[in-house]
Amino acid sequence: MQGSKDTLLFDMCGGINLEQLDKAAQTLREGGLVAFPTETVYGLGANALDDEAVLGIFQAKGRPQDNPLIVHIAEVEQLSSIVEVIPPSAEVLMQRFWPGPLSLIFKKSEQIPLRTSGGLDTVAVRMPDHAVALALLSHAKVPVAAPSANISGRPSPTTASHVLADLAGKIDCIIDGGATGIGVESTVLDLTSTPPMVLRPGGITLEELRGILGRVEMDPSLIKQDGSVRVARAPGMKYRHYAPKANVYLVLHRYAVEQRVSSLANRLVEEGKRVAIMAPAESIAAYTNGRIHLEVMGQAEKPATVAANLYSLLRKMDSCGIDDIVVQGIEEKGLGFAVMNRLRKAAGGKVL
Ligand code: TXA
Ligand code: MG
Repeated sequence: MQGSKDTLLFDMCGGINLEQLDKAAQTLREGGLVAFPTETVYGLGANALDDEAVLGIFQAKGRPQDNPLIVHIAEVEQLSSIVEVIPPSAEVLMQRFWPGPLSLIFKKSEQIPLRTSGGLDTVAVRMPDHAVALALLSHAKVPVAAPSANISGRPSPTTASHVLADLAGKIDCIIDGGATGIGVESTVLDLTSTPPMVLRPGGITLEELRGILGRVEMDPSLIKQDGSVRVARAPGMKYRHYAPKANVYLVLHRYAVEQRVSSLANRLVEEGKRVAIMAPAESIAAYTNGRIHLEVMGQAEKPATVAANLYSLLRKMDSCGIDDIVVQGIEEKGLGFAVMNRLRKAAGGKVL
């Protein structure tokens, strides 16, 4: 493993250890890098107000510098120094969904360095719903910029061992809080546009947002089906992403989906590839070729169960030495929309 730092591992699976928590908080205040659990995925944190600390995040992840970071806070009171204005819609959303998997985009204040906002005049902020994360943020006493704690482009980490695999030796400390609950990232909602626009689907669904705000749009680049080129408004959404080393083929949930998955997987096996099928539990019995590695990715009817396993399975495929993964898609509604968004990115165009 490349890297020169001695990465400390703090085990807080059984509860918060105050001595270690203080050490991690101090590391953040002093400009260091600390990976920590949230309810969505593990984050790689640095003091959001410290330009040099934030530069460290980009370097450790190999992240393009035009891709802005989400700033994490523990108290709503922290918001006023980070953003220029707090629109009334934000008040209602924070009341309803914070702490939780919703990142809100505001006009940024002078306090937030351009490094943190990827050069934009806006900033995304969220309050994570995780005891360890909230304790760390309130002890740190600074807003914490935190992207997912993976090497850029790889599947996001949902356990501390995923973080270690990508970033050991490159960061100061990892807090292990066990597996994350939701398994896909927060929803990113732009409140600087009218009507508000979802730039990245995630843990809070479009249906839930519309239930509160009425009109909410989707960034058109998220719903294009025809392969036309549109630039995503969240810079992070324009890159191939969430991808294991194996090729991912995504078969959409349409007519005869199991048959289409089988025939593609069989063809790849005939080509001499080591092939895996990832499919919802309801469909597993349809797959009978003994030369194909089978993985259950939750239940199609409960997309939350698919989200929770998704990244972990994609990483597992690499450790099993799989060449090609054929994924049976699920319906693009509710949390299924976020799941399918990540799978489309992982497939990088190989969508059937
Ligand atoms: O659940 C999450 O949000 C996790 C945990 C750690 O909190 N964090 C996370 O961060 O997923 P990251 O950096 O992997 O993804 C942030 C996404 C990117 O697609 C980025 O382009 C977008 O949010 N984003 C951040 N600030 C933005 C801004 N000001 N304008 C547009 N998009 C922004
Ligand atoms: Mg990420």
